[in-house]
Amino acid sequence: MTNKIKIFSPATVANVSCGFDVLGFCLDTVGDEMVIKKSAKKGIHITKIEGYDLPYEAEKNVAGVSALALIKDYKPDCGFEIEIYKKIKPGSGIGSSSASAAGSVYAINELLGRPYNTTQLTNFAMKGEALASGCEHADNIAPALFGGFTLVKSCTPLKVLKIPCPEDLYATIVHPKIEIKTVESRAILPQKIELKHAVQQWANVGSLVHAMYTNDYDLIRESLVDVVVEPHRKKLIPNFDLVKTESLKNGALGCGISGSGPSIFTLSKGKETAEAVALAMQSIYSKTNIEFDIYVSSINKEGMKIMNNE
Ligand code: HSE
Repeated sequence: MTNKIKIFSPATVANVSCGFDVLGFCLDTVGDEMVIKKSAKKGIHITKIEGYDLPYEAEKNVAGVSALALIKDYKPDCGFEIEIYKKIKPGSGIGSSSASAAGSVYAINELLGRPYNTTQLTNFAMKGEALASGCEHADNIAPALFGGFTLVKSCTPLKVLKIPCPEDLYATIVHPKIEIKTVESRAILPQKIELKHAVQQWANVGSLVHAMYTNDYDLIRESLVDVVVEPHRKKLIPNFDLVKTESLKNGALGCGISGSGPSIFTLSKGKETAEAVALAMQSIYSKTNIEFDIYVSSINKEGMKIMNNE
């Protein structure tokens, strides 16, 4: 029987330009690590947090809230201790809270012998995500737990569709280290949109999904367009337009805001192009006084990874 497990909980990109709150994909070069073990003392106990300053009280920590939702349902005769090695900066726009929320329930499910399926785990993790972003949405949690590209068909009842993607698709992410709170970047969005924009947007979502199924890189390029959210949010991110212009000039298929920002993502065909895009991003932000990180990653098809267990 496994009593202790160490996992890699991946970063994710939500929205993917045209799919606000529904599309997302999973990265494999950046993510948190978590160690979770069974304890005789019942309940959820966060015993260590490294990397960033986050609350230890389970009820105030996203990993704790999702884990509490799971044990409230399962009622195990043991408790769980959680250690979080946070590598994804909170508020970066690459699914930091989702990695914590999804990681704890994934690991506890493994320790309990997998009583829950991935959709049920997504539901528990959404409780943690709600603590961070003010509402339950699954566009980061779903790719973290299912892996690859996902589309959240609906949240109530939760239905997640896994979408295949071409082998040679790479993401480049730049994270300018300014703070944008998800709650605030949601608050600036209009509650109503023009019909002509809605038509463009749903055509793009449909064609992006088609492009993923048919490995059609040109159609991916044409579909990575956001006429609904990006025009409002881009002003929160210094140099967004320049990053977009230079990324496309360097061969990226598309460029958009990762989740609620401030990270910016691009998708490219091939690692070489993704790395050229990374250099272009670096050249832009190194001319500013904004600190930044850049990641190049293939699409992580598996999602969570077990690093070891005892
Ligand atoms: N879909 C969400 C948003 C992702 O853009 O607000 C951020 O958590």
